[in-house]
Amino acid sequence: MFLLVFFILISHSSANSVFDFCVANLSLPNGPEGYACKDPKRVTADDFVYSGLAIPNNAKNSSSSIPFLQTVETTQFPGLNGMGISIARGQLKVGEIVPIHIHRVCEVLYVIEGTIGAAFIDTNNTAYYKTLNKGEMIVFPPALMHFPFNVGSIPALTYSTFASENPGRQFVNNALFGGKLPSDLVEKITLLDHAQVQKLKKIFGGTN
Ligand SMILES: *[C@@H]1O[C@H](CO)[C@@H](O)[C@H](O)[C@H]1NC(C)=O
Ligand SMILES: *[C@@H]1O[C@H](CO)[C@@H](O)[C@H](O)[C@H]1NC(C)=O
Ligand SMILES: *[C@@H]1O[C@H](CO)[C@@H](O)[C@H](O)[C@H]1NC(C)=O
Repeated sequence: MFLLVFFILISHSSANSVFDFCVANLSLPNGPEGYACKDPKRVTADDFVYSGLAIPNNAKNSSSSIPFLQTVETTQFPGLNGMGISIARGQLKVGEIVPIHIHRVCEVLYVIEGTIGAAFIDTNNTAYYKTLNKGEMIVFPPALMHFPFNVGSIPALTYSTFASENPGRQFVNNALFGGKLPSDLVEKITLLDHAQVQKLKKIFGGTN
């Protein structure tokens, strides 16, 4: 019986039981298992350290298109490859909002400074909303629409962790109005009229 359990555990374990780490070689293609590994003989301690968040508002060094959101994923920090975790920092001015979006995996958002309104909507369209004070955190379940925003009177600072080194980040408005989905289809699925869709396509950079 013990042997059987042992065998099942072994057969279900991932590639991580074979390799201690797999620092990404970013010049090789990305795939479902992440990037292929950098030559282990050329791995150094620096591969497991990322210093980009030491610089405030370092949004240029981020895979996010939102200026006040700095994401740290494999492309910024190749040591995260295969680790199933990543981090992001939000620096929100008074009243600022991260537009409604989804990730493939769950997120824990932790408030370091300020007061954050945080909401998510489940697949039954039930909305969950809370005000979070400094030191409090919320979990956003995987693949559900959510958004944090600064409801306080001072700039807010948040850190989020994600259960993937490549969590994905899809903004709902950009998905609908930022791409090349033809306007007549966007009108059908949103019930907005032609002028409204044109206006939103202009804001979000969509064509067609
Ligand atoms: C990364 O992959 C490229 C292309 O195969 C290879 O030339 C290079 O040596 C690799 N770098 C490391 C550090 O393993
Ligand atoms: C991004 O951050 C990394 C790690 O600190 C650094 O090596 C790299 O030069 C930075 N790139 C830019 C464009 O700031
Ligand atoms: C789904 O939403 C409806 C209306 O908002 C609510 O009455 C119902 O309890 C919800 N069901 C579940 C399983 O959450």
